Amino acid sequence: MKKSMDTIVSLCKRRGFVFPSSEIYGGSNGFWDYGPLGAQLKRNVREAWWGDMVTNHNELGIPDGAVSTFQMVGVETSIIMHPQVWKASGHYDLFHDMMIDCRECQARFRSDHVATSQCPRKPSKAPGDHEACQLTEPREFNLMFKTIIGALSGEENAAFLRPETAQGMFVNFKNVVDSSRVKIPFGIAQVGKSFRNEITPRNFTFRSREFEQMEMEFFCHPDQSRQWYEYWRNRRFQWYIDLGITSDNLILRDHDADELSHYSVGTADVEYAFPFLPDGEYGELEGIAHRGDFDLRSHMEGKLVRQGDDLVVETDEHGQPRHRGSGKDLTYFDDQSRERFAPHVIEPAAGADRATLAFLCEAYHEDEQPDDKGNMQSRVLMRFHPRLAPVKVAVFPLIKKEGMPETAGRLYQDLKAAGIASVYDQQGAIGRRYRRQDEIGTPFCITIDGDTATDGTVTIRDRDSLEQQRIPLDSVVDNIHGRLRS
Ligand code: GAP
Repeated sequence: MKKSMDTIVSLCKRRGFVFPSSEIYGGSNGFWDYGPLGAQLKRNVREAWWGDMVTNHNELGIPDGAVSTFQMVGVETSIIMHPQVWKASGHYDLFHDMMIDCRECQARFRSDHVATSQCPRKPSKAPGDHEACQLTEPREFNLMFKTIIGALSGEENAAFLRPETAQGMFVNFKNVVDSSRVKIPFGIAQVGKSFRNEITPRNFTFRSREFEQMEMEFFCHPDQSRQWYEYWRNRRFQWYIDLGITSDNLILRDHDADELSHYSVGTADVEYAFPFLPDGEYGELEGIAHRGDFDLRSHMEGKLVRQGDDLVVETDEHGQPRHRGSGKDLTYFDDQSRERFAPHVIEPAAGADRATLAFLCEAYHEDEQPDDKGNMQSRVLMRFHPRLAPVKVAVFPLIKKEGMPETAGRLYQDLKAAGIASVYDQQGAIGRRYRRQDEIGTPFCITIDGDTATDGTVTIRDRDSLEQQRIPLDSVVDNIHGRLRS
């Protein structure tokens, strides 16, 4: 059965995953806030990415049959960069969508979202109403948010909020090489906010105006770049599967030649069957792009354009570069081969909010389970992968007496001290407490009952299998650590 997006959005609101931004003032279109559970879930998504890509990265890359290790490092760069960055990168001239206005109702749409010659907001009710003549011709609209640096408001102080984190890695390529002794091939990763003044933000957090990216720029020798592209394309697809997205809902789609960016040799998207899309359609979670030497060369030489098979610096009517680069040498010298070259870049660019939304949609399940009296009740459960679940363990005393709350309270403190996100709950019938945890995706519930005082054991209940086991109270922390690792 197809999941309902409305049900998922309402669960997100009710249980504190996602709220509309500034809701008490009526919300702000394209902006979202994460509540207590959502903030933890998104943090876990980010940490899974950072851990797998940077800190715990211990991978052997095998692009050409020869096993080679490679280094991964992280950076955190500023949101407002030198305005020249966006001119050299091409964003200033090229980062736009085509928009269409409806002259009658003043609504504005992305032209590719207008399927007919009529205004999508008010389809024709009577002949002549909202016909083609009411819509403007498509016009360019730059998606970068503009701001002013300092107290003077002139155009010379205009700057932009970054529309992608990637440029922070390119402009720091030399700094990283010189300061951290990395050798090619290596990757620079970053997680951070990006901003795009989307014409039509839509589909919950999927298309927002403020969002978070998890991007990595992998610098390699041009001769090996195609193999590394294949490597990252497959590895990034597998990341979502390993974190619980079933392969039925996920595809890896290679771009057609006419979809490729003007500089790209190859791009593949990891796409997910979001419930808000018609059957058979998928929405982008991540793009893995072979960017060649476009970015480093742009920041050396100036904004590049394609001329036949070559990338050349775009010039103005006086033959001068239209947008200058930094003029700095951003090539790499390989001291083994004694070769100097502009590295090629493979870029896996993911969205933290889109990944979080996909994990929320994938986790949502409904089933039927007997309640305390044996009557069948419908149950909502969020089947988050244990690494991603915002709460890992709930601790319950079966009843509020006979020392059970004290024992449960001590266990709860021990779990927190061991760094395991836990909650304590003694309110209501045990079945209702299980339901509350199922609905927020807590994988394990521990109950302290009458036997705990006599034999020192507790029950541990698994969210998905509903299996209950008795284990020693003093082994709970290790047991949970083991389950979270597996
Ligand atoms: N540096 C390359 C780059 O930024 P992109 O495909 O434009 O590539 C990468 O963005 C990822 O960022 C997307 O796959 C998506 O997950 C996320 N993203 C882009 N625009 C977004 C938006 N308006 N709202 C939420 N996420 C967005």
